[in-house]
Amino acid sequence: MPPEIFPYVSKKLNLSEAHIYGVATFYENFSLEPKGKFIFKVCDGTACHVRNSAPLLAALRKDLGLSESKKTTSDFLFTVETVSCLGACALAPVMSVNEKVHAAMTPEKTLALLEELKAEGNKPEAESCSQEASHVAG
Ligand code: FES
Repeated sequence: MPPEIFPYVSKKLNLSEAHIYGVATFYENFSLEPKGKFIFKVCDGTACHVRNSAPLLAALRKDLGLSESKKTTSDFLFTVETVSCLGACALAPVMSVNEKVHAAMTPEKTLALLEELKAEGNKPEAESCSQEASHVAG
């Protein structure tokens, strides 16, 4: 949700721009910055942190050239964020990619997953869609 549209949304909803900004920055489903096709959420809650979630985050950031301040790759394929808890503490350390949760992760498993997603992300759109359709069909 780019801030440039706040005046338009404000006018259409008859709400102040400050109200629009508050909603856009409070709810995780909104973002002021564009995100990647694949959004990694690395849990850094207590259970995951004590079971070594930090190396997972470091491995992702190093491979993708990302940092605390640069969360999305230039090609908008990947975004790497941290979250406080994904609600799967018993399976720590945990991360999610889009809506899928990955449990008991290691840096090696994380990089293997990343390579799979790079291959998937570089497929032509039509090929990717037809494979997704075949998964749905069974
Ligand atoms: S602390 Fe990571 S899932 Fe709860």
